[in-house]
Amino acid sequence: MASVTSLTDLVNQRLASALSATLPEASVDPLLRRSDRADYQANGILAAAKKAKANPRELATQVVSNITTGADLIQDVEVSGPGFLNLTLSDKAITENLAARYTDGDRLGVAAKANPGITVIDYAQPNVAKEMHVGHLRSAVIGDALRGMLDFTGEQTIGRHHIGDWGTQFGMLIQYLIENPDQLSPETDTDGEQAMSNLNRVYKASRAVFDADEDFKERARKRVVALQSGDKETLDLWQRFVDESKVYFYSVFEKLDMEIRDDEIVGESAYNDGMPETARLLEESGVAVRSEGALVVFFDDIRGKDDQPVPLIVQKADGGFGYAASDLTAIRNRVADLHATSLLYVVDVRQSLHFKMVFETARRAGWLTDDVTAHNMGYGTVLGADGKPFKTRAGETVRLEDLLDEAVQRAAEVVRDKAQDLTEDEIQERAQQVGIGAVKYADLSTSPNRDYKFDLDQMVSLNGDTSVYLQYAYARIQSILRKAGEVRPAAHPELELHAAERALGLHLDAFGDTVFEAAAEYAPHKLAAYLYQLASLYTSFYDKCPVLKADTTEQVENRLFLCDLTARTLHQGMALLGIRTPERL
Ligand code: ARG
Repeated sequence: MASVTSLTDLVNQRLASALSATLPEASVDPLLRRSDRADYQANGILAAAKKAKANPRELATQVVSNITTGADLIQDVEVSGPGFLNLTLSDKAITENLAARYTDGDRLGVAAKANPGITVIDYAQPNVAKEMHVGHLRSAVIGDALRGMLDFTGEQTIGRHHIGDWGTQFGMLIQYLIENPDQLSPETDTDGEQAMSNLNRVYKASRAVFDADEDFKERARKRVVALQSGDKETLDLWQRFVDESKVYFYSVFEKLDMEIRDDEIVGESAYNDGMPETARLLEESGVAVRSEGALVVFFDDIRGKDDQPVPLIVQKADGGFGYAASDLTAIRNRVADLHATSLLYVVDVRQSLHFKMVFETARRAGWLTDDVTAHNMGYGTVLGADGKPFKTRAGETVRLEDLLDEAVQRAAEVVRDKAQDLTEDEIQERAQQVGIGAVKYADLSTSPNRDYKFDLDQMVSLNGDTSVYLQYAYARIQSILRKAGEVRPAAHPELELHAAERALGLHLDAFGDTVFEAAAEYAPHKLAAYLYQLASLYTSFYDKCPVLKADTTEQVENRLFLCDLTARTLHQGMALLGIRTPERL
C-alpha cells in the first residue's frame, strides 16, 4: 500500500509555506477551490490580508514571488481580482500523481485514517411478521452505502439491525398459532416469498379473531404476560415468527444484492434484560420521573399542542417497556460494550423527535459522553409519480419485492435493446445489476433528508444522472481496453496533456478527498455526484481525444492509462455505494 498525497494537498502546502514566508505570523487556510479560469483558485489571501491589515493585492503579489514554479508542481500562478491566486499545475505533476494512484490497487492511493473511530450503524431494520416497505428500502440502501464509505476511510463499523421483534402484537400471533398449530410450517421455510405469505396469512387471520372474539382477546393478553415472563413454550413460538421472518428478510436483502450478517441482527428484544436497569438508573439519578404511574423524561424545548410538554416514556404505568427503553438500553450497550465513538441511526426522518429525546436522555444519564457523537440520518419519504407517498393504485403500500422485480424487468428491456453480443443469460444477469443499481442510485443521488419520486423510467434512463449512465461509461472503457489488444496502459509524464485530459486527471485526484468528505458528512449523494461528474468528464475527454487512434504509441498508452484509472475509480466508487459495474453492457 502506497498512499499518494493529493495534488490539492501538495499545492496547499506550497501556498501555506509561501504565505508564512511572506507574513510569518499568518496562519490562514489558503482555501483552494477548483476554478474555471485555471486549475485552482486560492481565496485565502483576502482573510490573511484582513488579519494583517495589509492590502490584499499587494500581499498576493508578494506571496506569488515566494512560490517556486516549474514542471514539478505549480506551472503558473497569477494574481487575480482583489487578491485571489489562480494556479495552473504542470502536466507532469498531474500524470505522475495519477501514475502513483494507478499502482495502488483498490485504494487508488487513498490512505486510511490514522486514528479511526468505531461507528455503530443502525440500519436495515424491518419488523417481524410484517411486510417490508419502501421506507425499509431506504434505510438499507443508505446504510449500506454509508458503511461502505466509512469502511474505506478506515473507520471500524459495526452494523446493528434493530428489527422490531417485540411487542404486544406477539400475544395475538402466538395465541393464534397455539390454537391453529398447522398455520406456520414446523420447519422453517427456505423460500422468502412463501415465508412472508405464511406470516401474512397468520397475521390477518389472528387479527380477525382478535377483533371479533372477546375471549380470544383476553387469551392473547394473557399470552403477552407469558411472553414477557419468559414462558418456554411461548418463547419457542415467538422464535418461530422471528426465524420465519428472517427467511423473508434475507430473500429481500439478497435481491438488493446486499450482505447482512446474522450476528448483526440484534433486534429490540435483545435489550429486554437490560431495560429494568435502564429504568432504575434513570429514576435514581432523577433524569426520569414518575408521572401518573409511568416513568418519563421531560424536555424544556419539546412541546406539543397547547404548549404541553411531550415526555419520553421509559416505562408505562402497567410496568411495560417500549421502543424508547430498548433504544436507551441499546445505547448503553453500544457505548460501554462495543466502545462506539459514533452512533449512527439510518431511520425515517419522522422518527427524529424520538431520537432527539433518546439522545438527550442518554446524555443526561451520562451514557453518551462528549466524545461520542449520536446522529439520526433521517431520510425522507419515497413518493409516487403523483408526488404523494408511494402507494399502489389500490392505495396499499407497495411490496418491496414487486418493486425490485419491476426495476429488473425494465432494466432487462434497456439491456436487451443495447445488447449486441450478449446471450439471454448474460442479459438477465446484467438486468439484475442494472435494475438494482438503478434503484439504489436514484435513492443515493438525492440528499437523504429529501423526499424523492420513485420513477422507474427515469431511473433506468441511459441519459442523465443515473447508475446506468455510469455503468455504460465503465463498460465502454472495458471495451476500449479489450480492443487495445497488445498495447497496454502506461503513464508517460513527459507528454503534454489536452485540456480535457487535465480536467479528468484533476477530478481523478479528488476521489479520496470526496469519499472522506462524503463519509464524514454522512452524505452519499456527494460521492454519487462525484461519480456522475467523473463519467461526464470522461465522456468529453473521449470526444476530444482519440485513444486508440492517437498520434504516437506513447500517447495511446497514456490515454489508455487515463481510461483504465477512470474505470477503476468508477468501479471503486460504485462499489462503495453498493452498485455493480458489469464488464460488458
Ligand atoms: N423497526 C423500526 C421501524 O420499522 C426501525 C428501527 C430503527 N432503529 C432504532 N434503533 N430505533 O420503524
